[in-house]
Amino acid sequence: MAMLKSALAFLVLAFAFFFCYVMSSGSYDYFQFVQQWPPTNCRVRTKCSNPRPLQIFTIHGLWPSNYSNPTMPSNCNGSKFDDRNVSPQLRAKLKRSWPDVESGNDTRFWEGEWNKHGTCSEQTLNQMQYFERSQNMWRSYNITEILKNASIVPSATQTWTYSDIVSPIKTATQRTPLLRCKPDPAQNKSAPKPQLLHEVVFCYEYNALKQIDCNRTAGCKNRQAISFQ
Ligand SMILES: *[C@@H]1O[C@H](CO)[C@@H](O)[C@H](O)[C@H]1NC(C)=O
Ligand SMILES: *[C@@H]1O[C@H](CO)[C@@H](O)[C@H](O)[C@H]1NC(C)=O
Ligand SMILES: *[C@@H]1O[C@H](CO)[C@@H](O)[C@H](O)[C@H]1NC(C)=O
Ligand SMILES: *[C@@H]1O[C@H](CO)[C@@H](O)[C@H](O)[C@H]1NC(C)=O
Ligand SMILES: *[C@@H]1O[C@H](CO)[C@@H](O)[C@H](O)[C@H]1NC(C)=O
Ligand SMILES: *[C@@H]1O[C@H](CO)[C@@H](O)[C@H](O)[C@H]1NC(C)=O
Ligand SMILES: *[C@@H]1O[C@H](CO)[C@@H](O)[C@H](O)[C@H]1NC(C)=O
Repeated sequence: MAMLKSALAFLVLAFAFFFCYVMSSGSYDYFQFVQQWPPTNCRVRTKCSNPRPLQIFTIHGLWPSNYSNPTMPSNCNGSKFDDRNVSPQLRAKLKRSWPDVESGNDTRFWEGEWNKHGTCSEQTLNQMQYFERSQNMWRSYNITEILKNASIVPSATQTWTYSDIVSPIKTATQRTPLLRCKPDPAQNKSAPKPQLLHEVVFCYEYNALKQIDCNRTAGCKNRQAISFQ
C-alpha cells in the first residue's frame, strides 16, 4: 500500500514537472527559416551602417511557429543567449551567413533572435544546435543562385509575379516556400510602386531536420507586382 502511494505521488510529481516544463519551454508546430535580402532592409527599415548592403540572401532567423497563431510563440522562458555557445569556427561562418546588416553588431542580432525565438524551441534545439542548424539550412540551398539561374536578378525596372519567383525555388527545393514583401517607402499615389521582395521563408517540421511545404498564405500582396532590387 505504502509503495503504491509513493508510486502515485511520484507519478503526480513527474506529471507536474512535465507540465511546468512544457509551459515554460513554449510549444510550436513547425519552424520557419527566414532569409532576408539586405538591400530591402536598408531601404525600408533604418539607415544601414554599410552603405553598400550585401547582395546575397542572409539569415534573419529560425522561428518556431504555430499554425493557428501566426505570431506565436515568442520570448519563452528559456536560457538567455550566451555567446560562449557559439564556437569560434561557427562564429566565423555566421558572420557571413547571419550578419546584422542594419547596425553591424552581429552578436546582438543573434542574441535578439535566440531570446525571442530560439528560447521557444529549446526543448528541441539548444543554443549551439540552434545556430548550427540554421547555418546548415542556409548552406543547403543558395537562393541568390537559384534566382540568378532563373534570370531573376536585382533590377530597378523589371518586376515579377509571386509565382515567377516561387517557381524556381520550388523546383530546386521540391518544397513550397513563402515570400514576404515590404511596401516601397518611396510611394507615389499617381504611379503606385511595386512591393519589394524582402524575405524567403523555408518551413521545417518540428525537429528542424526535414523541409516541408509552407502553407501560410500571408506574405506578399497577391496580384501586386514584385520588385527585386
Ligand atoms: C498554438 O496557439 C494556440 C492559440 O494560442 C494554442 O492554443 C496552441 O496550444 C498552440 N499550439 C502549439 C502546438 O503550440
Ligand atoms: C515566464 O515565466 C514567468 C514567471 O514564471 C511567467 O510569468 C511568464 O508568463 C512566463 N512566460 C512565458 C512566455 O512562458
Ligand atoms: C554588440 O552586442 C553585444 C550583445 O548585445 C554587446 O555585448 C556588445 O557590447 C555589442 N558591441 C558593440 C561594439 O556595440
Ligand atoms: C550563392 O550564390 C551567389 C550568386 O551566385 C554567390 O555570390 C555566393 O557566393 C553563393 N554563396 C555560397 C555560400 O555559396
Ligand atoms: C546554376 O547554374 C550553374 C551553371 O549552369 C550550375 O552550375 C549551378 O549548379 C546552378 N545552381 C543552382 C542552385 O541551380
Ligand atoms: C509621381 O509619379 C508621377 C507620374 O509618373 C510623376 O510625374 C511625379 O513626378 C511623381 N512624384 C514623385 C514625388 O515622385
Ligand atoms: C497547414 O498544414 C498543417 C499541417 O498539415 C495544418 O495543420 C494546418 O491547418 C495547415 N494550415 C493551413 C492554413 O492550411
